[in-house]
Amino acid sequence: MKIVILGTGGRLGAALARSFEKYDLTALNREQLDLSDLDDLRSKLDPISFDVFSNAAGLTNVDACETQRDRAFLINGEAPGVLAEICNAKHAKLIHFSTDYIFDGEKRTPYTEKDEANPISFYGESKLIGEKNVLAARNHHLVVRVSWVFGPDRPSFIDAMIRRAQENEKVDAIADKFSTPTYTHDVAQMLPQFFNCTVDDSILHFATAGKCSWQEYAQRPLE
Ligand SMILES: NC(=O)c1ccc[n+]([C@@H]2O[C@H](COP(=O)([O-])OP(=O)(O)OC[C@H]3O[C@@H](n4cnc5c(N)ncnc54)[C@H](OP(=O)(O)O)[C@@H]3O)[C@@H](O)[C@H]2O)c1
Repeated sequence: MKIVILGTGGRLGAALARSFEKYDLTALNREQLDLSDLDDLRSKLDPISFDVFSNAAGLTNVDACETQRDRAFLINGEAPGVLAEICNAKHAKLIHFSTDYIFDGEKRTPYTEKDEANPISFYGESKLIGEKNVLAARNHHLVVRVSWVFGPDRPSFIDAMIRRAQENEKVDAIADKFSTPTYTHDVAQMLPQFFNCTVDDSILHFATAGKCSWQEYAQRPLE
């Protein structure tokens, strides 16, 4: 099976590339394939043959998406739709990563795949457009929503908490913000079962652990 991973300079993409070495793998970072250049996407991917394309790339800095809205919509919204078209032409499956930021956070119990999206940030809005564009292509593509992603390839919230604890006596973390931590290695382990899946309109919520507050999430590594 031939697999392409985009975003291998990032936290999740690097973990996927490491786990999928046993496949016929093409690992691409931003320098090799830039989602903001749609013509380049087409011309660079057209000559490559593959069965699965995993898109772990995106503009993930929530604040940067607020100030660079056009860029956020292009990279997170429009480009995934172009990737889906390219995959359709090759009868390949696109596995596209999305986020809990497509929800408004008002629900008091964990969100399910059936819940209505209602983003309240430009990051969330751009990612939701990306999801819709991928699923509109209707070729058994899969949208995987993850949250609070951590792993060894790029510092995350956990690393920031450890660093702060080393520098300060006291570390503050918000107690009324809840989500589900997700280890990049666990995403990589569960993903292959979907490589040959032929269900349309698929959205999957995946997390390593159950619900916790940001404070609990911060406390665990410090213990
Ligand atoms: N991190 C989280 O807590 C979290 C939570 C929910 C959902 N997600 C989703 O999970 C996926 C992976 O996130 P992550 O944590 O691995 O993010 P990350 O570490 O920020 O990695 C994102 C990668 O995308 C690359 N990229 C940015 N702009 C690009 C462009 N124009 N063309 C090609 N590549 C580009 C970045 O390149 P550079 O390295 O060169 O900047 C980076 O390597 C994303 O879809 C994200 O929305 C993440």
